[in-house]
Amino acid sequence: MDFSKTAKKHRAQSVSKRRSISKVSIVVFIILFTTWFCPSPDSIFQQEETSIQSVQDVGHSSDACYGRRVHMYDMPEVFNTKILEFCDGKLVHWIHFCNHYKNYGFGEIVNTTNSMFRDDWYGTDAYMLEVIIFERMRSYPCLADKPANADIFYIPFFAGLDALPYLYNDTRKMDKQGHEVISWLRANAAESWARYGGQDHFMIAGRTAFDFGIPTMDDWGTCLLDLEEMQNVTFMVLERRPWRSLEQAIPYPVGFHPSNAASLNSWIERVRKSARTHLFSFTGALRPTLSIRRMLSNECENAATECSRLDCAKVSCSHNPVPIYESLLRANFCLQPRGDTATRRSTIDSIVSGCIPVLFHEDSAQKQYMWHFPEDYRTFSVFIHEDCVTNGTCIVRDILKKIKPAEVIKMREKLISMIPNVLYRNPSDVNFPYIDAFDLTIEGMVRKATSLKKSPPLSTS
Ligand SMILES: *[C@@H]1O[C@H](CO)[C@@H](O)[C@H](O)[C@H]1NC(C)=O
Ligand SMILES: *[C@@H]1O[C@H](CO)[C@@H](O)[C@H](O)[C@H]1NC(C)=O
Ligand SMILES: *[C@@H]1O[C@H](CO)[C@@H](O)[C@H](O)[C@H]1NC(C)=O
Ligand SMILES: *[C@@H]1O[C@H](CO)[C@@H](O)[C@H](O)[C@H]1NC(C)=O
Repeated sequence: MDFSKTAKKHRAQSVSKRRSISKVSIVVFIILFTTWFCPSPDSIFQQEETSIQSVQDVGHSSDACYGRRVHMYDMPEVFNTKILEFCDGKLVHWIHFCNHYKNYGFGEIVNTTNSMFRDDWYGTDAYMLEVIIFERMRSYPCLADKPANADIFYIPFFAGLDALPYLYNDTRKMDKQGHEVISWLRANAAESWARYGGQDHFMIAGRTAFDFGIPTMDDWGTCLLDLEEMQNVTFMVLERRPWRSLEQAIPYPVGFHPSNAASLNSWIERVRKSARTHLFSFTGALRPTLSIRRMLSNECENAATECSRLDCAKVSCSHNPVPIYESLLRANFCLQPRGDTATRRSTIDSIVSGCIPVLFHEDSAQKQYMWHFPEDYRTFSVFIHEDCVTNGTCIVRDILKKIKPAEVIKMREKLISMIPNVLYRNPSDVNFPYIDAFDLTIEGMVRKATSLKKSPPLSTS
């Protein structure tokens, strides 16, 4: 999609403003504005007496789907696939995404003469995350047709695409998103909702959580996440707000979507054997707002041949993974400073290319990917606090040069082991032997639901 610039401008403002106010005032704002400014439908989910039996009572351990059955609500298409029909500027006249939702949401197949990228590579648009998950869920082997048999509940609402007119077309009110979804759930899901007050339900959006917040401090956000009925729903996004426990970040979809084990294995071998001629790499356009990017870009230029610099303002990389991966495969370390928001798709790109990520802020990954990344970041990344760079104390090149080659190899092997976990594989291969980002997303939600179920269902207590 071509609307990233405007979105990013708004988000950058949103982030910087948020940082400038204290936590106390955030809490006060949230309380006040949730109550006053986000219109909410009448409270809808009255607890009903129900006779739903927990599957754990009847399940047994030989059942591969035990504890992980998903009910995908059969919602009207107007909440999901119908929205795709408006891809040609009909949601917001300058936003076009007809090519991006093709091929299970992976986008168009990459057109390149480089044989490395000929199979299973796409011009993937990260905003299509919600389409990718939807497409994959349709062939998930543990779907439960009957809500009564499900452990967790997927609300197939394309919240990010649905948000576009609210965010970008001033004819509609910014703060009214989601009311139709809530009405539908009220009419059709009351019974399964009542089991745990909606806490075993989840929704996915290919945007950052800031886009669905309260539009008070920065005139940005649809209020969706502040609807009373959303207060128990796990909301999976490209970037969570670290202080909101119901938001969970899942990896940005990148251009590689392996369709079989051989394709993934041969990529991994290329990553392992790649000639890393540069100490580090910096990918991305400069932003005037955050000086960390500029400082790192300068460091990269000063390091001359030790740094590989790819400027996406000069080379178009948004829907072409080839130049990005050609650059990342050449470097040992990849700098991942905050951009317009704390996370970057480039962090996932760098894992997939075996380039050790150098992180500068905890919000960029540590506080995001708890379901997908190992707990000990020292085993696969380097952390340099951004203040230390901006005040001139830390020279990135010097720090990276001190890391011993044996340590670099160890970290890279750790990264390589993570590659399958951050990719969204092609849904067509049912015998795919690796656990991918989708599988870990379900796992994370299942763990959450399991801990819920240790306490008795609301409706029978
Ligand atoms: C958006 O709003 C403008 C008025 O500001 C209107 O003319 C236009 O039709 C609306 N729709 C789209 C798809 O942009
Ligand atoms: C692929 O790229 C080549 C060279 O740039 C171009 O001539 C060709 O039309 C492209 N094919 C498609 C399907 O876009
Ligand atoms: C959210 O869950 C709590 C139980 O933890 C329940 O009391 C509350 O009614 C639920 N909220 C909604 C909107 O269902
Ligand atoms: C620079 O920032 C680092 C990290 O916050 C801090 O430890 C160091 O004391 C600072 N140095 C100066 C000169 O301000």
